[in-house]
Amino acid sequence: HITVIPEIDMPGHMQAALTSYPELGCTGGPYEVWKIWGISDDVLCAGNDETLKFIDDVLGEIIEIFPSEYIHVGGDECPKVRWKTCPKCQARIKALGIKGDKKHSAEAYLQSFIITHAEKFLNDKGRQIIGWDEILEGGLAPNSTVMSWRGSAGGIKAAQLGHDVIMTPNDYCYFDYYQSEDTRHEPFAIGGFVPLEKVYSLNPTASLTEEQAKHILGTQANLWTEYIPTSEQVEYMVLPRMAALAEVQWTQLEKKDYTNFTTRLAGLIGLYRRDGLNYREPFRQQADSTATEKK
Ligand code: ACM
Ligand code: ZN
Repeated sequence: HITVIPEIDMPGHMQAALTSYPELGCTGGPYEVWKIWGISDDVLCAGNDETLKFIDDVLGEIIEIFPSEYIHVGGDECPKVRWKTCPKCQARIKALGIKGDKKHSAEAYLQSFIITHAEKFLNDKGRQIIGWDEILEGGLAPNSTVMSWRGSAGGIKAAQLGHDVIMTPNDYCYFDYYQSEDTRHEPFAIGGFVPLEKVYSLNPTASLTEEQAKHILGTQANLWTEYIPTSEQVEYMVLPRMAALAEVQWTQLEKKDYTNFTTRLAGLIGLYRRDGLNYREPFRQQADSTATEKK
């Protein structure tokens, strides 16, 4: 009873694809699969018709593999530097009559053209898209569901516009972030600080009216693994934060009680132990200052 929703992140996060298909980048490459962390300036060329065909081909294959109603098309972290100087991208902007305004650049609207293209392809096949909150920039593709990751603001705005939303604000739901401020005793991570209590405190419908709150489909934790080399470390990052987020999802706001949760956590920890899982000791934080051994 679990539905896996795949994400093909476009038009950014495409460095590896560009390595295989350099003709789909604005400069033509050559490109190399990245060996460093961060965001690449090289993205799919939005002015190239072959890019649109590539998107259709990839999504066409994806929907054959995944029966999910929703397909995630990304949309996050797409720098526009290449598009600004690419003749093909600029020609597309001209051909579409796109103009930048006070809110967004012409290139931001060009991204919206790409996402809308993917959305139309998927809608025609009976599927719906999910995209990161950046898809709000430059006009939201009409039926799209928004995943709010840069805090909750994008999700709130999308819900107010009548879009469905999944709340995964990084300051509550990024399980790749540290669980202690004393990072010396934690496995090396991307940064941030999301302790168990912070996860538990998330109210995904805060600042929404009852009507708008109906658009919040739920919450999600993200565990990006570029800093996480082993399954054991995956367990360490999600347990027991995953239990806190589960309770956020299925417990009515007025019944949420962190102290009560922590007393019940003992039973859950027993199950983690029984199954040999590598959880983070939830109340280790107080002991951190005296701890000497490195995890
Ligand atoms: C994201 O973390 N870039 C969605
Ligand atoms: Zn281009």
